[in-house]
Amino acid sequence: MASAHVLDHPLLQHKVSMIRDKNTGTKEFRELVKEIAMLMVYEVTRDMPLKEVEVETPITMARTKVIAGKMVGIVPILRAGLGMVEGVLNLIPGAKVGHIGLYRDPETLEPVEYYCKLPVDAQERELIVLDPMLATGGSASDAITLIKKRGCSNIKLVNIIASPEGIEAVRKAHPDVDVYVAAVDEGLNDHAYIVPGLGDAGDRLFGTK
Ligand code: PRP
Ligand code: URA
Repeated sequence: MASAHVLDHPLLQHKVSMIRDKNTGTKEFRELVKEIAMLMVYEVTRDMPLKEVEVETPITMARTKVIAGKMVGIVPILRAGLGMVEGVLNLIPGAKVGHIGLYRDPETLEPVEYYCKLPVDAQERELIVLDPMLATGGSASDAITLIKKRGCSNIKLVNIIASPEGIEAVRKAHPDVDVYVAAVDEGLNDHAYIVPGLGDAGDRLFGTK
């Protein structure tokens, strides 16, 4: 059974508090989400395998290490996951980027798929799925199912704020997927919004209603 990792670096806790604040405007919110994604992916990639290489420094030859193993693909869930892409690419500029379009039907609260495009060699990559919010877990679970249907098996999920229900739902549906979050909140309200959460992440990122 895969585990949920709570990344609680003080910088992450500080920045998450700032995006929760309803007075944080779109520009600052976007900047903070980017920074949070960058700090999170630093931890998420901690287990990346290394291999020894030889490089010539200006002084002498040196045996040193570089990343080995699978290349990375990142898959933001539209729309709000887009806000995390730039931060991840700052640290892993060679990553390819797929997109999955899902929205929650406001009546049924069920995710509705409208787009899926993955890198051609996605099956050979370690895929990092990005979405700031893990509420019921329906969107993330469906996104991971779509990715698996395309033959991918090496998948991590990164959310900024999660509910306990969301984590449990993903763990149940996809026990092989490690989930990384910066905060686990109290739960969900009647509209399946995370409490205390930060409201609607997509609207706050893009200035929509
Ligand atoms: C939000 C959020 C997640 C989903 C989480 O997206 O970005 O994708 O809800 O909810 P769940 O865990 O209950 O599925 P939303 O449907 O609002 O779409 P948007 O990103 O286009 O605003
Ligand atoms: N989607 C959001 O953007 N926020 C929530 O709290 C729940 C789902």
